[in-house]
Amino acid sequence: MSQALDTHTAIAVIGAGAMGSGIAQVAAQAGHKVYLHDQREGAAATGRDGVAKQLQRRVDKGKMEQQAVDAIIGRIHPVSALSDVAESSMVIEAIIEDLEIKRELLANLEELCGPETILATNTSSISVTALGAKLSKPERLVGMHFFNPAPLMALVEVVKGLATDNVVAETVHATASNWGKKPVFATSTPGFIVNRVARPFYAESLRLLQEQTADAATLDAIIREAGNFRMGPFELTDLIGHDVNYAVTNSVFNAYYQDTRFLPSLIQKELVEAGRLGRKSGHGFYSYAEGSQRPSPRTEPECQSHENRLIVEGEMGPAKALVDRFRDAGLEIIERDGPGQLRFGDAVLALTDGRMATERAQVEGTLNLTLFDLAFDFAKASRLAVSVASQASDKAVSDACALLQKAGIAVSLLEDRPGLVVMRTVAMLANEAADAALQGVATKEDIDLAMQAGLNYPEGPLSWSDRLGNGRVFRVLRNIQGSYEEDRYRPALLLRKNHYAEKGFYA
Ligand SMILES: NC(=O)c1ccc[n+]([C@@H]2O[C@H](COP(=O)([O-])OP(=O)(O)OC[C@H]3O[C@@H](n4cnc5c(N)ncnc54)[C@H](O)[C@@H]3O)[C@@H](O)[C@H]2O)c1
Repeated sequence: MSQALDTHTAIAVIGAGAMGSGIAQVAAQAGHKVYLHDQREGAAATGRDGVAKQLQRRVDKGKMEQQAVDAIIGRIHPVSALSDVAESSMVIEAIIEDLEIKRELLANLEELCGPETILATNTSSISVTALGAKLSKPERLVGMHFFNPAPLMALVEVVKGLATDNVVAETVHATASNWGKKPVFATSTPGFIVNRVARPFYAESLRLLQEQTADAATLDAIIREAGNFRMGPFELTDLIGHDVNYAVTNSVFNAYYQDTRFLPSLIQKELVEAGRLGRKSGHGFYSYAEGSQRPSPRTEPECQSHENRLIVEGEMGPAKALVDRFRDAGLEIIERDGPGQLRFGDAVLALTDGRMATERAQVEGTLNLTLFDLAFDFAKASRLAVSVASQASDKAVSDACALLQKAGIAVSLLEDRPGLVVMRTVAMLANEAADAALQGVATKEDIDLAMQAGLNYPEGPLSWSDRLGNGRVFRVLRNIQGSYEEDRYRPALLLRKNHYAEKGFYA
């Protein structure tokens, strides 16, 4: 592995907007002298002052020494001429997201800087290969993709274009590590790792909303309380801004030649057209007007059942821990062979396998069927989504609900759709991650790390897929695909291969 850039060398950051200022702070915190340049007069100084203000808040809270802040700010030098950055060991551009403007800047930098200077781009959507194509030495251009806000987010995607020299990429990787970041390597493909693999997180919930499976607040609550994600997709896109999120989806969709896996959502398009961009405009899926309250998730009222005997038929797979919760709740547990389902009163409950409850009930002859969704940790989940077969009796539905409530689980009863919410989302995330791994976009370890460090996912999608047991995600996807009869849910080749090899990604 190559060495990190020496902290005695200077780093230059071009573009002192949200990202550039944050990157300047990160490099200065690591000990580098930083030149900060922006073509707008005064913007570089404003950027540095913004960093000072942020750090001052930490001093006020007693989290940082004034002396340390002064030292960091003292290392950031706003410069008005581009030629002032010539002596840097690396120049990171964080200017407007425009291929031609970035190309022109990089060409100028190539002229000004010495042959050893690394040229790095913070682009989130432009091909590093295309950015380097007109340089005389494209091998020294590399993507260094920080996440917003750069000082707080750990992930840095080190993106290799077709011509990028491996030594250059390794130097940037080691440098990002030295700066306290978690770097991963990625090839220059649309969306790199995170902006590609994360698409289903938004897309599947948007589709479920469009199909009237549940309202936004209920879907958000399920993703948070059962899936263990920090935020649900609707509150998160409200925070990101629908204009930004919709633009990224469109860009990835078009870059992959309209692959339906990335299909943008009409619901999100309408929000953008209405100017309901989320928090920043005061309205998105939720209202942010003063005094407005977030709607509560739909939760079933208390269901009554005097039954206290639970029959566990066969292996419950990832939902095994649920049985312990029922035992702890005082239920008598009877175990016997079976396909992996629970019987309680008139109800039969099973973990979703990607089919609708109505279809599965008919095929398996279990008419009183209730399907429950995946949870990140069945031992702790405070809410579960369920769907009920159309054929089920009212008593069976009430028994199913009562059973889950006995374990202290809030029940969100959804319209009967394939794969419910968390299972469907996790299966599609793993599918995208598997495809990215197959295509060599990054290693499986780096993909999992990127989704955790870049987006705070509770677990990397490939490791999560392994934890669900051999072949489960593959079977779920095949069933969802069968339900919709759409190409969008086709299982990735590596999932299929693992299924037949009876192994996971890691073992
Ligand atoms: N905002 C994000 O969440 C995010 C995350 C990761 C990457 N990025 C990428 O980072 C880059 C910057 O994004 P941002 O959100 O900081 O934008 P921004 O609009 O906040 O800042 C861009 C700055 O670049 C300056 N600028 C424009 N053209 C210039 C030029 N030719 N020379 C010098 N300065 C120039 C502008 O004056 C402005 O101050 C983009 O490539 C973007 O795709 C953004």
